[in-house]
Amino acid sequence: MKFMKALSCATVLAGCVFSSASAADMTVGFSQIGSESGWRAAETTVTKQEAEKRGIDLKFADAQQKQENQIKALRSFIAQGVDAIFVAPVVATGWDEVLGEAKDASIPVILLDRTVDADKSLYMTAVTSDLVHEGNVAGKWLVDTTAGKPCNVVELQGTTGSSPAIDRKKGFEEALKGHDNLKIVRSQTGDFTRTKGKEVMESFLKAENGGKNICALYAHNDDMAVGAIQAIKEAGLKPGKDILVVSIDAVPDIFKAMAAGEANATVELTPNMAGPAFDALAAFKKDGKEPPKWIQTESKLYTQADDPQKVYDAKKGLGY
Ligand code: AHR
Repeated sequence: MKFMKALSCATVLAGCVFSSASAADMTVGFSQIGSESGWRAAETTVTKQEAEKRGIDLKFADAQQKQENQIKALRSFIAQGVDAIFVAPVVATGWDEVLGEAKDASIPVILLDRTVDADKSLYMTAVTSDLVHEGNVAGKWLVDTTAGKPCNVVELQGTTGSSPAIDRKKGFEEALKGHDNLKIVRSQTGDFTRTKGKEVMESFLKAENGGKNICALYAHNDDMAVGAIQAIKEAGLKPGKDILVVSIDAVPDIFKAMAAGEANATVELTPNMAGPAFDALAAFKKDGKEPPKWIQTESKLYTQADDPQKVYDAKKGLGY
């Protein structure tokens, strides 16, 4: 492929003439985790839209939440000789070998929305939010809202071993340091899904005196929070009042819950990781310009004070 030649020139830094063709002659393989949440489904939609806008041939592979399927997809993209690979890595470890194979084939890899525990030379850049900061923002909101009052917190973690689950937990705990009124009494993975979020919240409620001992829920994503809200209601309690609800993603349905007074706060994660990734790739293709190793996306806090119904209406259709 034309880009491959241009890339090999870039790699050897010889005086090559880079392909002046537009991105339209580029093929990108995208290994997506699956569709475990509304946010993930929106990321897929937006990635396809962004590719279409640029005339890029996107080869899409859904891994159904399994790392082995992602590794298989990456190997298939390498065999096809794609110009670049995008991957949203389901977990943080186990990527060195296949990323090394992509590097040996001079195929740049860009990480979307999650990071990996691998040498940074094995990927071109990672387009992600500051996952620790997201947890920190959620924790700080709870510290401010409880204002020193005793509050037992339950936590629904994301997929075990994924960088958001690890980092969002870390950031939240950092925010709670020094505020002994706040105590995380239960913490378990809900795997970023509504179903599991509801199931695990049911077990938390049962274990904590029908929920009477619980003052707040921190969920690593809105989908688990929405599932948990259902469980709280079925236990006869008022989510958003008896049990405060703070989560991450800012998908439309959390604003629907906020408008009903059933959720309190969310930290936004843009589903458009692919736009900056395609732009970085085009810049590299055009003149060999390497992007920074991290392209950070914003994390904005939304609360019930932000006209949730209006935000819901605005967000519907943005890939959701
Ligand atoms: O990696 C981002 C996380 O993955 C989102 O917060 C969650 O909804 C998705 O499953």
